[in-house]
Amino acid sequence: MNKRGFASDNNAGAHPEILKELARINVGHEIGYGGDRYTAEARELFKQHLGPDAEVYFVFTGTAANVIGISSVARSWNTIVTASTAHLNTDECGAPEKLMGCKVLTVDTPDGKITVEMIEKHIQGFGFEHHSQPKIISITQSTEMGTVYTVKEIKKIADYAHSKGLLLHMDGARLANAAVSLGLPFREFTTDAGVDVLSFGGTKNGLMAGEAICFLKPGLDSDFKYIRKQGMQLASKMRFISAQFIAYFRNDLWKECASHSNAMAAVLADKLKEIKGIHITQKVQSNGIFVIIPHDAAEKVMKQYFFYSWDEIKSEYRLMCSWDTTEEDIDEFVKLLKKEL
Ligand SMILES: Cc1ncc(COP(=O)(O)O)c(C=O)c1O
Repeated sequence: MNKRGFASDNNAGAHPEILKELARINVGHEIGYGGDRYTAEARELFKQHLGPDAEVYFVFTGTAANVIGISSVARSWNTIVTASTAHLNTDECGAPEKLMGCKVLTVDTPDGKITVEMIEKHIQGFGFEHHSQPKIISITQSTEMGTVYTVKEIKKIADYAHSKGLLLHMDGARLANAAVSLGLPFREFTTDAGVDVLSFGGTKNGLMAGEAICFLKPGLDSDFKYIRKQGMQLASKMRFISAQFIAYFRNDLWKECASHSNAMAAVLADKLKEIKGIHITQKVQSNGIFVIIPHDAAEKVMKQYFFYSWDEIKSEYRLMCSWDTTEEDIDEFVKLLKKEL
């Protein structure tokens, strides 16, 4: 299937600038396992975007970023509190439980965003040896439902976490989409808002493969180099992951890609809103759209344009736009949908 569809931003290819960068650095020999000059340069660039204390490590996947990133700061008797829709809870095949041994406690939310009021019930039992000890609150930005936390909302959760001796983790698999949506630099809604550990995504926004784990406060990464190696995420040819981020930050490629995918989602949402029988269920604040489509029509459209069912009972589907989605893709999709309704 070579057609561009709306199934996932992971289904898009790599941006040509990323491939060009990989060719550029594919010369001579470089020290392996991150001792190369490109990894040093990329880590420095992250400090420019996240602040001088940010310690950054590159890994292959977003699941690894979440799981081994949190492993650095949690022990097996700790709890991680998150939204029931969090990737950490639904789409990591129990890796957090298996590899960290932590208990994952969840709360249902209307829009993928947790609040202090929602999670308070899980933040108790401190010092009681029969009770898993609360340690991590994890939020996703932008969320799995396409919504975006404001700086104020993040600060409130971070202040609460710190007042209880907890740490705030942010799953930023789609961090660039949130930055564009908020119109803010990364630092303002991560480091400066009180986030402690950040999974910084790249793959969904134009990279071929590469994610970064960012420890935003000094000391949080003290044992991390051992954890990454045990977690099998220490790439021998690390330069091919890290150099992608050099291209990603150069000329704000990240912003160009995320602005485009967010804008395409807004265009698609506007066209869907005009169709009778179609109902958008979440605010469209990034590159994802959640929509109720009559089941039979959706099944027929899916044969040509694959996309995922989100809630079979509600007949709710997820449509994702990517850095390479075009207005023609949208027009063709909408035309087909109208025909099948
Ligand atoms: C919110 C979120 N976090 C993390 C990930 C990372 O996933 P992967 O391990 O497939 O790179 C994804 C991918 O779908 C995601 O949507």
